Amino acid sequence: MAFYYRDMAFILGIESSCDETSAAVVRDGEELLSNVVLSQILTHQAYGGVVPELASREHLRAIVPVVRQAVEQSGIAMENIDALAVTKGPGLAGALLVGLSYAKALAFALEKPLIPINHLEGHIHAVLLEARQNGSGQLEFPVLALVVSGGHTHLYLAEQVDSAWRYQNVGHTRDDAAGEAFDKVAKLLALSYPGGPIIDALAKHGDAMAVNFPAAQLKHRDRKDRGPAPERPHFDFSFSGIKTAVLRYVETQAMAPSIAIRRSALAQLSKPGVEDVLKHCDRRTLDLVASFQRGVVQDLVGKTLAAAREYQAATLLVSGGVAANSELRQVFQRTAARAGLRVLFPSRPLSTDNAAMIAAAAYPKWLARDFAATDLTAEASLPLR
Ligand code: KG4
Ligand code: ZN
Repeated sequence: MAFYYRDMAFILGIESSCDETSAAVVRDGEELLSNVVLSQILTHQAYGGVVPELASREHLRAIVPVVRQAVEQSGIAMENIDALAVTKGPGLAGALLVGLSYAKALAFALEKPLIPINHLEGHIHAVLLEARQNGSGQLEFPVLALVVSGGHTHLYLAEQVDSAWRYQNVGHTRDDAAGEAFDKVAKLLALSYPGGPIIDALAKHGDAMAVNFPAAQLKHRDRKDRGPAPERPHFDFSFSGIKTAVLRYVETQAMAPSIAIRRSALAQLSKPGVEDVLKHCDRRTLDLVASFQRGVVQDLVGKTLAAAREYQAATLLVSGGVAANSELRQVFQRTAARAGLRVLFPSRPLSTDNAAMIAAAAYPKWLARDFAATDLTAEASLPLR
């Protein structure tokens, strides 16, 4: 296929790696023209977590209308879209394949290039898109990026070589992702799904100092890291310990009966809101939730700031679903300011999964004409480099 190239580009992004079907149109990685996100929360709520098979089915149902709506809302005719961008991984294989197969077929039919994007790179570019949009996109390097979501808790040193971005992993979770810990604790305590937003709201009503959860101490190298030891230290996270500590607390404080009452009360409601959950929480539960959130936030901020010192970072980007957390934002802002570090977050709607970040991350690849080969396929564990 022969393409006519120019530097200005309207890119249609498509994202389907987990439980949101999303499509967006972004100009030049800096102007958001549309961003349609269809969440499957109600489908997965009853299970307290994402059910992969159901996620794929819901993506199949949603992909065509979501893409159509995003193009319509952008005001750009389909034939004037310059390129398509799609999430290649990481994520649920079946879910990824829905977006990827659709994007491949659409790109072929429209005779447009297709740009594969790593979902984690997308989260980082959500911050950059909005920074450029509000005129504060000039970054001072080194840049350290924390991607903290339901599937990942990763730290990257990011650098720009010409227009292309390169990433070096300098830390990751050894077990649960931070968002996963929020979701599992919410499920254990019979709050609602997903756990992050509800714990964020409930924590404001509890005493965060009530229960002391010590930060995870990781003394040994990650056994999964093969090869010679890295020359500079890694800043790894672990969240399964705090999750187990919450479980122990529930057992020692005999909280099971009150959890069971809350579970059956909330099961009567089709879509329980914060007020409904709050009505069914006693002080001890609120204190526990606030203390858990504090523990996770302290750990995320402490290790990220230690990595920033080690790598002498000038700018910190914090993105992914958990970046929507109000306490995390406040503590990062306070401590980063003290350390003379500029910290940037995406707006809340662009913190969680969306296709605008995929379209934005594709722009440097558009400039480099870095397009997909015809054998492009999904990669559930795609690393970011
Ligand atoms: O980035 P995302 O939408 O999907 C993944 O790539 O995983 O992140 C979803 C995760 C969920 O675990 C959810 O509980 C968490 O982000 N989350 C939050 C908040 N909003 C979403 N965690 C803490 N506080 C929040 N306000
Ligand atoms: Zn994500």
